[in-house]
Amino acid sequence: MSRLLAATAIALGVAFVPSVSGAGGSEAFALAKRVAAEPPLDPASPVWLKLAPLAVALYPQTSVAPGTDAKPLIARVRALHTTQTLAIHLEWRDRAAAREPGIGRFADAAALQWPVDYGPGHALPYVGMGHASAPVALWFWRADGTAETLAAEGFGTLTRQPPDGLQARGQWKGGVWRAVFRRALAAEGEHRARFDPARSALVPFALAIWNGEAGERDGAKRLSAWKWLRFEKGSADEAYAEQASEPAPAGDAGRGKRLVSEKGCAACHVFPGNPAQPRIGPALTYAGGIHSYSYLAQSLAEPSRIVVPGKGYFAVQDGKRISLMPPFDGGEAERRDILAYLKSLR
Ligand code: HEC
Repeated sequence: MSRLLAATAIALGVAFVPSVSGAGGSEAFALAKRVAAEPPLDPASPVWLKLAPLAVALYPQTSVAPGTDAKPLIARVRALHTTQTLAIHLEWRDRAAAREPGIGRFADAAALQWPVDYGPGHALPYVGMGHASAPVALWFWRADGTAETLAAEGFGTLTRQPPDGLQARGQWKGGVWRAVFRRALAAEGEHRARFDPARSALVPFALAIWNGEAGERDGAKRLSAWKWLRFEKGSADEAYAEQASEPAPAGDAGRGKRLVSEKGCAACHVFPGNPAQPRIGPALTYAGGIHSYSYLAQSLAEPSRIVVPGKGYFAVQDGKRISLMPPFDGGEAERRDILAYLKSLR
């Protein structure tokens, strides 16, 4: 467990159960244990509650307006699989349950996000609902009982998909939501999450949670970074496992903090403690919690490779989106210091 994640958990007053950790004590893996019987849809079943969960931090979405200024949140993830089925159990705190949407009223909701294509050689899609040519599939549960499958290729491209057999059930009790998602490993059709543990036991996933009472819906949500599901019975490609483990930033975060002012980043981006609230680019308050090191490095080097599709963030030239952000032109040591600082923002 990272120190920062632990600190977040303590700040939130959440009791922490140690995560299922792989080699190196990474907090990024949720183990899907293999069982013989179909995993129960009942979120309160002891079959679920006796499993050790992975704690996953979710941060307010601030890349594209309207975001949310809610606080970070810890969700716990448990997983089980049979030879045919995958089931995921989520648990998070919420003081009050918002069950029915209505006029000016929103229901609590949660979603699991999966890359449609993953495995060796595939880069991760943009964590905020994918990007062009890197689609994501979403399993969406809402507290009124809705369970549906959606797909997206970037913010604002969400489309409903034909049902793929996804089932989901939630239960709120004593200030805690618990929800189970269950689906067959295989799925027909385009834009589907597909699982084949014999081929790839490692599957990236991310979480999103909406707090209905706070008016959260659509992009006003909290989201996690990409995490990894590991099928207990399956084979994992070593190179892919390597890709999954984040390199530790080599730079000096303290120097990076000074550099974002000196290099002009703070003229366009909100940083914690920055009195200016520029909205020319996305707020980076939680950038390190949401984004991978490699994504952040790419954002600096080639801003137009994945363009965050917020209003006013880009110009269109010959049908292509060009980011307003200039590529970073400083030295290697400065680049590392800035990345270390960005990774510390969570
Ligand atoms: C002229 C304004 C401007 C400057 C200066 C600038 N940026 Fe940006 N930045 C943007 C815009 C606009 C975007 C969103 C479009 C895109 O994806 O590139 C962005 C995107 C980003 C992202 C991706 C955020 C996300 O939510 O996905 C990161 C990280 C980032 N910038 C960091 C930096 C850093 C570090 C610096 C200084 C070295 C910097 N920026 C300088 C305007 C700027």
